[in-house]
Amino acid sequence: MKNSILFSILLLLILVACEDEISSTMGEEAQINIDSSKLYPMQPSIQREGSAEVGWNTLINGDYIGSGIPIDIFKTAFPTAENTWNRTGLNEGIPHDFNAFNAENGVAVVAPNCFQCHSSTLNGELIPGLGNITSDFTVDQSGINLVLDQLVSATYTQNSPEWEAYFPFSQATAVTAPQLQTSTVGVNPADKLAAVLGAHRNPETLEWIDQDLLDIPEEVVPTDVPPWWILKKKNRMFYTAVGQGDFARISMASSLLAIQDTVQARKIDNSFADVIAYINSLEAPIYPEEINQLLAEEGKALFLNNCASCHGTYGDTETYPNLLVDISEIKTDPALIEANFGYTRFTDWYNESWFAQEPHAARLQPEPGYIAPPLDGIWATAPYLHNGSVPDMETLLNSESRPLIWRRVGNTSNYNYQNLGWEYESLTSKEDKFSYDTQLPGYGNQGHYFGDHLNESQRDALIEYMKTL
Ligand code: HEC
Ligand code: HEC
Repeated sequence: MKNSILFSILLLLILVACEDEISSTMGEEAQINIDSSKLYPMQPSIQREGSAEVGWNTLINGDYIGSGIPIDIFKTAFPTAENTWNRTGLNEGIPHDFNAFNAENGVAVVAPNCFQCHSSTLNGELIPGLGNITSDFTVDQSGINLVLDQLVSATYTQNSPEWEAYFPFSQATAVTAPQLQTSTVGVNPADKLAAVLGAHRNPETLEWIDQDLLDIPEEVVPTDVPPWWILKKKNRMFYTAVGQGDFARISMASSLLAIQDTVQARKIDNSFADVIAYINSLEAPIYPEEINQLLAEEGKALFLNNCASCHGTYGDTETYPNLLVDISEIKTDPALIEANFGYTRFTDWYNESWFAQEPHAARLQPEPGYIAPPLDGIWATAPYLHNGSVPDMETLLNSESRPLIWRRVGNTSNYNYQNLGWEYESLTSKEDKFSYDTQLPGYGNQGHYFGDHLNESQRDALIEYMKTL
């Protein structure tokens, strides 16, 4: 008996010793166990062709929001905006995240555009398509709404064409503003925004309805805005793969804010094939600092053995398997998936609505996991995971080291090129709207344990390689 215990201990010691040897001499052999029955390939659907150039013009000058703030009033609020992207005409001098356009009745108005959420500054450069990590949805903006209402009606009266061009915008923002509060600056409530807007539209005619038809749950599940340049590899849209069918149709959801009817929706739908063509033309930004090529080579071997089966391969032979990973395998915060399944009234609304009609039909199809995203340009897109709960790559690959409560420090130049993420500090309690408390529902930083078995130097090599993607 004693002997057999001794023998077991000896065997264990030998095994442990061997394992050590394996991981130090042949790092690329480091193993993880993945249950392949929990990986579901996502199938592609037919997409329209379009012109990237026309799409860019639509994005920065188009009228896809339909209604907005009369331009003179807007310009008193933003008298000296930078002229990003050298826009001309009505849009000259309008901030990059707003579009000026003529509303249906010919009045010039200004409304937020897609770049509110889909552009960000990194190293002093504004990058279209990089998710905005500074937008602040922690505060209910209803107050601004009321002030705007008063300004527009006092300046033009409520019988004016200006009021007519402004009213749909005001009506929608009044309903949405109090329902979008997140706990932390940087995370985004867009999924809830879409549901709230759907709740106030007749599914077939898309006309506005004052009462809330869908009785939307109160919680706001936060997401980190994904970069646009990965869309071209994906067969389904969104973190949970819930977006199926025509991507252009799905992407025009923002228009639910203030369009009038299906005539206007059809027009926008026609122009959005070009918007998708533009999004698909975007390339990931190149890592700007020096890369240690030898170390990166080592990291590549580790990547191929530990990561590529889910995230694909990069460089000369690009592959991407389009896998959805079951929540029981990925183990990250489940709230976003649960929101799709637990609350089907919005998906039902969508799937019976104008959006789901041919030609170019789209559907919302809940799935039980998260997509393993393409990692192109991953160095630039911290924080990580669908809810932005992990501040950098170092902590993503070592789950023990992930901070429970943390706050970004410095400004948009304080990117940590070693750890691939923003400089941050750990806190003992949530101090302000800038601190991220991973203990809140939907904000959890658990899961994705695929880097935990690596040692420090393997992790360094892997990170070096990730800079090249
Ligand atoms: C209020 C912020 C916000 C605005 C405005 C916004 N988006 Fe998004 N967008 C998001 C968020 C957040 C996600 C990720 C949601 C998810 O996956 O659950 C997203 C996802 C996407 C995706 C899918 C990316 C992927 O990899 O699956 C596309 C494409 C997209 N948006 C296009 C647009 C376009 C085009 C517009 C303007 C018409 C727009 N968005 C306006 C916040 C926004
Ligand atoms: C079993 C499949 C699987 C394996 C293996 C895997 N990942 Fe992932 N990875 C995922 C999924 C799924 C997500 C999205 C999880 C979420 O957002 O909740 C993800 C997310 C990520 C992200 C964050 C992406 C973002 O935009 O925030 C990075 C970075 C990443 N993985 C790197 C790696 C690396 C490096 C490895 C190898 C050590 C690896 N992954 C192994 C499935 C996998």
